[in-house]
Amino acid sequence: MTRWSVRAHDTGFGYVSAYGAPLVDLLDPRPGERVVDLGCGIGVLSAEITARGAHVLGIDGSAAMIEKALAQYPGIDFIVGDGSDFTVAQPYDAVFSNAALHWMGREPDAVIASVREALAPGGRFVAEMGGAGNCAALTAAMSTAWREHGLPEPDLPWYFPTPAEYAARLERGGFVVRLLEYFDRPTPMDECPDGAAGWVRMFAGSLLRTVPTGMVEPLLRRVNELAAPALRRETGWMADYVRLRFAAVRR
Ligand SMILES: C[S@@+](CC[C@H](N)C(=O)[O-])C[C@H]1O[C@@H](n2cnc3c(N)ncnc32)[C@H](O)[C@@H]1O
Repeated sequence: MTRWSVRAHDTGFGYVSAYGAPLVDLLDPRPGERVVDLGCGIGVLSAEITARGAHVLGIDGSAAMIEKALAQYPGIDFIVGDGSDFTVAQPYDAVFSNAALHWMGREPDAVIASVREALAPGGRFVAEMGGAGNCAALTAAMSTAWREHGLPEPDLPWYFPTPAEYAARLERGGFVVRLLEYFDRPTPMDECPDGAAGWVRMFAGSLLRTVPTGMVEPLLRRVNELAAPALRRETGWMADYVRLRFAAVRR
């Protein structure tokens, strides 16, 4: 289900949560509200929402993430669960999700259905995820490098929908879409000194497991060569992120 490693997330990509702070503002949690943080990772944003007075249940598919979250934030509830089939005992006021729904793309309608079930009527679904075109230069470099090395097309694990597609899914799934933004967010790859190669190791490490050991380094060198013209600036590497951010309300 999930391909995340706690170590990589913890040491390398703290910025994932840092970029999520405006999303907490969009959620605008009120004291006493009950909020699910879906795909909560190690719980950094769950803690931010809790600090605003809401009661948070963090759910993540990775037991290692949840273990870390529980250790770090003992006052918050965290459980292991899959976004496509989690259930809660009592309805929640809101489901929040940062940078996680694109990892749950094999069954987007099942995720939306689970979120709906978890919400009281009028409950909010506020999320940000990768949108269509997200990491296009990075993934194109991967495809070319894989092909040049005689490897099958990499089976990329992400789901990056267009705004129209995701809005239609939300509406079919019983939500009214109140806000939907689709924007470029070039993101400094500060934590990836070796650029696109480091990004692939961090975010698509599972794909490297099927690559013969001796081929990994030349393959990643080639990814860097191919991605550099689009993504390497004088100041360092920039990831070509495109985000989809929405706020929807359960009918
Ligand atoms: C980029 S991290 C984001 C973590 C956190 N929301 C943040 O902003 O720091 C994506 C998270 O989604 C989780 N995830 C991926 N697939 C999932 C699934 N099917 N169900 C629940 N969580 C999943 C991963 O384990 C990972 O912790």
